[in-house]
Amino acid sequence: MDNGGLADRMALLGTETAFEVLAKAKALEADGRSIIHLEIGEPDFDTPAHIKDAAVRALRDGYTHYTPAAGLPEVRAAIAESVGTLRGIAVHPDEVVVTPGAKPIMFFLMMALINPGDEVIHPDPGFPIYESVARFVGGRAVPWVLSEERQFRADPEALRALITPRTKLIILNSPHNPAAGVLSRADLAAVAEIVRGRPITVLADEIYGRILYEGAFASLASFPEVRAQTVILDGFSKTYAMTGWRLGYGVMRPDLAARITQLMVNSNSCTAAFTQMAGLAALRGPQECVDEMVAEFRRRRDVIVAGLAALPGVTCLRPAGAFYVFPNVRAIDPDTARLQDYLLRQAGVAVLSGTAFGAHGKGYLRLSYANSVEAISEALRRLRTALDRYAPVSEASRG
Ligand SMILES: Cc1ncc(COP(=O)(O)O)c(C=O)c1O
Repeated sequence: MDNGGLADRMALLGTETAFEVLAKAKALEADGRSIIHLEIGEPDFDTPAHIKDAAVRALRDGYTHYTPAAGLPEVRAAIAESVGTLRGIAVHPDEVVVTPGAKPIMFFLMMALINPGDEVIHPDPGFPIYESVARFVGGRAVPWVLSEERQFRADPEALRALITPRTKLIILNSPHNPAAGVLSRADLAAVAEIVRGRPITVLADEIYGRILYEGAFASLASFPEVRAQTVILDGFSKTYAMTGWRLGYGVMRPDLAARITQLMVNSNSCTAAFTQMAGLAALRGPQECVDEMVAEFRRRRDVIVAGLAALPGVTCLRPAGAFYVFPNVRAIDPDTARLQDYLLRQAGVAVLSGTAFGAHGKGYLRLSYANSVEAISEALRRLRTALDRYAPVSEASRG
């Protein structure tokens, strides 16, 4: 088969469907259609002014050169302090690696740990990049199925049954994308009990850790018996509305941090210097901006959950974190890829099929409520009209 001369491994690499749906939606907009965007996983708020000002100041002050590959020492120190405070643990700056966005931590960690045939247990539905990278580096991606019955909180008992002698990495994501499940302290205690003492690393993707509406945030890293096995992934994209700045980090054992730093040297050299200084201002500056964004997300969550639950054939949990809802639409059409396409074209509402996040997302849609209450309300009106008219079988026969 002609693969354009590419290495075989490129056939294993997946993608994020959100970017494809966004491109389709943009093409419809270019044709004059009105589209409401509920597909994108990024805060619609502007980056707070004091963070932007810090970046401008940093540029003027000469932060325009390489930095140490693992990040500026003062930035690593500020991250260590902030990560430690939120989780109630002591973190040393040597444990911190700053990266351009948090995504590289997934990539680098799997590059560093996974040999061909090693197993990576990942949530399904879950962030699609976990499975994509696990397969790309030659690992075996093992889905850890999340269920609506458990409010999409990963089930530790199910995890126990998935572990084999080849298990190398387990991925936890709480609050979760796409289904917004939030692991309780008890859930994490059970996971800690299962993995402690085994030659397994856990990647705790806590990028939505500050976007929480109920209860206190719990991290696996706060369980001393598994602290050394845990790698925290976090960053600035969601908490401070900084997706375009590309600033994130990993927190891990210093020897592993040194290897991830080596991967930085081999790829990016370092994260942009003035971006790091903006991050420093975000961590050291006032935190009311985060509280305000979370309060607004909560208001939107309540509007979208009530609106979706009122639609015939739709049921929807009220998530405790992140900015996504994951309504069950199986009664309307179990083929949610078809439904996603219909809603984009007929209702002008861009949403994602749950299957964009793995086979077990079938029957669900993911809607991001990182949009105004007005836009969400209009989207709900459009969904009602379009779903009233929806006839999946005739849609299918039209091809
Ligand atoms: C679960 C999860 N982890 C990590 C990321 C990556 O964030 P960043 O923009 O910092 O690379 C995202 C972004 O959508 C996400 O949803």
